[in-house]
Amino acid sequence: EKGGYDHFMLKEIFEQPNAIKDTYRGRMLVKEGIIKMAGVDDNIEKFLNANRVIIVACGTSWHAGLVAEYIFEDLARIPVEVEYASEFRYRNPVITNKDVVIAISQSGETADTLAAIKLAKANGAFVFGVCNVVGSSIARETHAGAYTHAGPEIGVASTKAFTTQITLLTLIALKLAKVKGEISNTNYRYHLQELELIPEKVQKALESDEHIKAVASIYKDARNCLYLGRGYNFPVALEGALKLKEISYIHAEGYPAAEMKHGPIALIDENMPIVVIATKKGHYEKVVSNIEEIKARQGKIIGIVTEGDTNVKKLADHVIEVPETLESLSPLLTTIPLQLLSYHIAVMLGKNVDQPRNLAKSVTVE
Ligand code: M6R
Repeated sequence: EKGGYDHFMLKEIFEQPNAIKDTYRGRMLVKEGIIKMAGVDDNIEKFLNANRVIIVACGTSWHAGLVAEYIFEDLARIPVEVEYASEFRYRNPVITNKDVVIAISQSGETADTLAAIKLAKANGAFVFGVCNVVGSSIARETHAGAYTHAGPEIGVASTKAFTTQITLLTLIALKLAKVKGEISNTNYRYHLQELELIPEKVQKALESDEHIKAVASIYKDARNCLYLGRGYNFPVALEGALKLKEISYIHAEGYPAAEMKHGPIALIDENMPIVVIATKKGHYEKVVSNIEEIKARQGKIIGIVTEGDTNVKKLADHVIEVPETLESLSPLLTTIPLQLLSYHIAVMLGKNVDQPRNLAKSVTVE
């Protein structure tokens, strides 16, 4: 049941510290500096010999794939392509037996993702599944895989599935980076230590709930909303926009912050709320200058910032703080306020948060 929460979505948002812990428990041995995952360990040659990794997924899982692209390329130096399963399967894609395909799916039942897996297998690729639901069709259809262990996700809007997918994919990237010798031992150890601290930092981020609710009450009647982020936090901007769209029915778009000047900036006026992810590490100065451009056009700025930030605070209409962490792990924290913001707006608008109109928890038709 909802365990005292008004909605499954809120319960699942608040479950994230434990869900993330459950994802790395037993797999990440921080003191020993070991990451073990049978599905990866047993197929390590396939990963090491891969020309590239192709990630296939839909919706929020596709966003987790985009975050993974940054992590795999940055840490493990393996080229990654991220594909919408629905496009990939119908495109006559070039797939060979030197490709590793990673399919990401919370439910493990998404029809397009399943079809993409079958196509990849037919072309000789090694297919690895990242699923939450144990024994699901995708878990069965893939050659190997790892479960996120997020526990049941009932709310149609995906929350803990996303952060646990990112956690799991980070473990895989770190493992491969280590085996390939692409990461220094110090940096590797540092990543493990920081990842271990993420659950308590997520907890800290959740403590801004009341403040986020107050921000939500100011923007609940907006007709449109923009989300901007760069680097690791660009996919988080996409995910924030998707969350708002699907449960509050407010039109929202996510963009890489630097793309603003190539079009979306024309939308900005005093009625446009813009959520900008502007954490300290990763293109901070550049994002701050994007914020200045928005400000000059009277857009309303909601900054997602690192604890103690002062620069963005001076410019933004509101700031929501998250604890400091490594840039590569920051999506696990910056996602939290965006989930809560959408949640509160949808509740204030009287929408059916757990079962938004026209949507199903798993899309088993193409
Ligand atoms: O079960 P899956 O991860 O394969 O589902 C993919 C999408 O249908 C899903 O993420 C959808 O976009 C969610 N409603 C997003 O909150």
